[in-house]
Amino acid sequence: GDFHLLPAKVQRFVTEKVELMRPRGIYICDGSQHEADEITNKLIERGMLSPLKAYENNYICRTDPRDVARVESKTWMVTPDKYQTVTHTPEGVEPIMAHWLAPNDFSSELDSRFPGCMSGRIMYVIGFSMGPIGGPLSKIGVQLTDSNYVVLCMRIMTRMSPAIWDSLGDADFVRGIHSVGVPRPVREKVINHWPCNPDRVLIAHRPAEREIWSFGSGYGGNSLLGKKCFALRIASNIARDEGWMAEHMLIMGVTNPQGHERFIAAAFPSACGKTNLAMLEPTIPGWKVRVVGDDIAWMKFGADGQLYGINPENGFFGVAPGTSHKTNPMAMESFQKNSIFTNVAETVDGEYYWEGLEDEIKNPKVEMINWLGQKWHIGDAGKAAHPNSRFTAPAAQCPIIHPDWESPKGVPIDAIIFGGRRPEGVPLVFETFSWIHGIFVAACLKSETTAAAEFTGKSIMHDPFAMRPFMGYNFGQYLQHWMDLANAPKGEAARKVPKIFHVNWFRTNKEGKFLWPGFGDNIRVIDWIIRRLDGDDSHALKTPIGYVPTEGSINMDGLDPVKWDELMSVPKEYWQEDAKEVRKFFETQVGIDLPAEIRRELDEQEKRVAAM
Ligand code: GDP
Ligand code: PGA
Ligand code: MN
Repeated sequence: GDFHLLPAKVQRFVTEKVELMRPRGIYICDGSQHEADEITNKLIERGMLSPLKAYENNYICRTDPRDVARVESKTWMVTPDKYQTVTHTPEGVEPIMAHWLAPNDFSSELDSRFPGCMSGRIMYVIGFSMGPIGGPLSKIGVQLTDSNYVVLCMRIMTRMSPAIWDSLGDADFVRGIHSVGVPRPVREKVINHWPCNPDRVLIAHRPAEREIWSFGSGYGGNSLLGKKCFALRIASNIARDEGWMAEHMLIMGVTNPQGHERFIAAAFPSACGKTNLAMLEPTIPGWKVRVVGDDIAWMKFGADGQLYGINPENGFFGVAPGTSHKTNPMAMESFQKNSIFTNVAETVDGEYYWEGLEDEIKNPKVEMINWLGQKWHIGDAGKAAHPNSRFTAPAAQCPIIHPDWESPKGVPIDAIIFGGRRPEGVPLVFETFSWIHGIFVAACLKSETTAAAEFTGKSIMHDPFAMRPFMGYNFGQYLQHWMDLANAPKGEAARKVPKIFHVNWFRTNKEGKFLWPGFGDNIRVIDWIIRRLDGDDSHALKTPIGYVPTEGSINMDGLDPVKWDELMSVPKEYWQEDAKEVRKFFETQVGIDLPAEIRRELDEQEKRVAAM
């Protein structure tokens, strides 16, 4: 690319950062196939990528085993006032939603990392759009990076093209600065040709400046800055200022056997089933699901009172293990070509492999290289793939991508679902009583920890709105923002707020086995949800936590017998304990920032449970 053709503001941004990070050269990306081929070939030569020769243009990459997931504990929001970022927690209680770094501390963290950090490396300049280029809900970002793996993945995950510069003109943009943090000459041994600096990882956001500084990691959630950093943490700040929402949600279009389509958004914590639900293959006849997005939704109420949502991304960055033709055939179809696999295993026949493909692999005795680079066979100790290994695939390759997935104004959202991994006490599905009760339920969202973050061992953690790791500002204000969105400004039509539901695919029996088959059978729950949207009042039982399906109201045709009571029950003792625990959570983690209406929802729910 030609530096002098970049918009003046971008030129200034690049010049400033070149002075700071001192790369040996600048490369302005155009997002073309030719450019991607060149970079790919260079990475193959260097040993960082290798072709998976069983497919067309698919590549595999193994990271340094210390760089495999997002690092929540090193992810910061930098704001002058602490309480712009975090809630007022009592003395000694660390806020779990957003971590605050004072501007002065940030300056010294920056000074000890970024000066000269690209020495001996090329700095790539990536102009990209989140959302269709030029769309009313879309936003432009510019990421600087010294990782060509990041360039290749950003090309899949975002819209990267010279058209960005024309669309941007003199306007402002979100600034992303990313370095793997390994300047040349390299002092320490680079493992797997994957430069990173795990001890010095820092992912910092300056929301007022719309700026992201990421250091030391090449892992997607830390390094593909368009994704969680921009599209959630920074965008939720922009969204609050501009009156819309940036959420950790899939968007799916669901057509019922009568041919009527509804759009649903759903928020689950990382590795809890968004990608799978978005691409669900219905097991009951007559239904059709098409995917708009699998991870992030930007949503705005129109002047007509309807909520519209876009998927700001251009690709899928999905969890590989557990993905198979049985569980998620449409994801499998999406990554047969032009995709990148990170930390999965590779067979000597040039195929990918991970846990969950046991029944599909052509030759179960085949020799493999596991994600750690060791020889491995099915049945050997250890794992073939890292539990958070990922595929990066172009969304357009998904056979059930929705024809309107790039609609600039978005698709009309009629329902919002929240959910998590809840082995105990939480029914398969319930409908909340109102917008405000729905906000309360989302604020109480909890889930068992997964490999998508650095936590070890299984425990149930709070993950409000599935946004805990992605919260961009004070959680109390975030709740207030959601509440305020129900009221239309003067001159606009009254807002049709979506109905809010909660689902739990992960309830287990005493032996720890899932009570619900999940995956394609989740359409049965979606069917019930859609009938509720259509005004079917006969199939819901009022319980203290919301409406649950009456027995027989979920289509079970063709399913092995399901233990209805175990799956649907709302145990009094469990919910009494839950209310106490939530009260403590609100007191210690939200404090005076908790809107009074949300506290009232808790009071009322606790009373309803007590009266059971
Ligand atoms: P995401 O990170 O939220 O997009 O989650 P994914 O859709 O990638 O799923 C993460 C993990 O949960 C994978 O191992 C899936 O196989 C598993 N999973 C997804 N949906 C279901 C379900 O309905 N039931 C069960 N038991 N597991 C599921
Ligand atoms: P996800 O998170 O599991 O929600 O797709 C991706 C990430 O690790 O950033
Ligand atoms: Mn996903």
